[in-house]
Amino acid sequence: MKGMEYFYELFTGLPRGGPGDNVSTQKAFGYLKNLPPKPRILDIGCGPGLQTLELARISKGNIIALDNHQPFLDRLMQNAAKEGLRKRVIPKNQSMLELDFKESSFDIIWSEGALYIMGFQHGLKRCKQLLKKKGYLVVTEAVLLLPNIPKPLQSFWDKEYPDIKDVNGNIILIQNEGYDLAAHFTLPKSSWIDEYYSPMEKRIQELKKKYDDNTAALQVFEKCEKEIKIYQTYSDFFGYEFFIMQKK
Ligand SMILES: C[S@@+](CC[C@H](N)C(=O)[O-])C[C@H]1O[C@@H](n2cnc3c(N)ncnc32)[C@H](O)[C@@H]1O
Repeated sequence: MKGMEYFYELFTGLPRGGPGDNVSTQKAFGYLKNLPPKPRILDIGCGPGLQTLELARISKGNIIALDNHQPFLDRLMQNAAKEGLRKRVIPKNQSMLELDFKESSFDIIWSEGALYIMGFQHGLKRCKQLLKKKGYLVVTEAVLLLPNIPKPLQSFWDKEYPDIKDVNGNIILIQNEGYDLAAHFTLPKSSWIDEYYSPMEKRIQELKKKYDDNTAALQVFEKCEKEIKIYQTYSDFFGYEFFIMQKK
C-alpha cells in the first residue's frame, strides 16, 4: 500500500491497533471453561499487545504473540519486561498467512480485530486445525448491528471490508465451520474511543504538522480521519463483536 510507512508511524504511537479494552478481554476470557492450569495460547495479530499482556495476567499460560510488524513486538516485550511477564510472552514475527505450528497444539487462540486479515472464514478453518479438541477460539470481528445501513456507510464497507456481516451471519459461519459458540457480545463504544480513536486523533494532529508538505503522508492521515468520522456518525450501525467459540 502506498504511504504504508506513514500508516505505521501513526499506529506505532497508539496504545492499540484496533478497538478493545481490558475489561472486555477479561469478560471474554471468563467464558472459557475447564482450561489446563497453564494453557498454551496463540495471539494472532497481537499488535502492540495490550490484550496479550492482559491474557498473561489472567491466564497463567504461555502466549505466543504473533505479528508481522517488529516494532509492535518490541514494544510488547518492553512492556512485558516491566511487569515481569517476559518469560510467558514469546514474540513471533511471522505472517498469519504462513502459520507453521503443529496441528492440535493450542488450548486457546485469541485474535482481537485481526483474524479478518486472513479472511474470517479461512481463519476459522486454519485455527480449528491448530486447536486441541475442546480448545477455544476467541476473536473480535467487525459486524453490522442494524439492518438498512445508510448509503455512505454501505460505500465505506464496500471499499474497506465487503465481507462484513451481521452477528447472525457470523454465527451461522462459525457453526458451519464446526465450532460451538460459547458466547458473544458487542464491545462498548468506549473501547473504540478511549484507547483507539482519541489517541489516534491526537497523533494525527501531531503528524500533520510534521508532514505538512508531504501529500502521500497527508492522504494517509485524511483516510484515518475519515474512518473516525464514519464511526462518530454511524456508530449505532456497526461495532466489534467478541465471539467465543469452542472446537468440538
Ligand atoms: C487491527 S490490528 C489489531 C492489533 C491488536 N490485536 C489490537 O487489538 O490492538 C491488526 C494487527 O495485525 C497485524 N497484521 C497485519 N497483517 C498481518 C499478517 N499478514 N500477519 C500477521 N500480522 C498481521 C498488524 O501489524 C496489526 O498489528
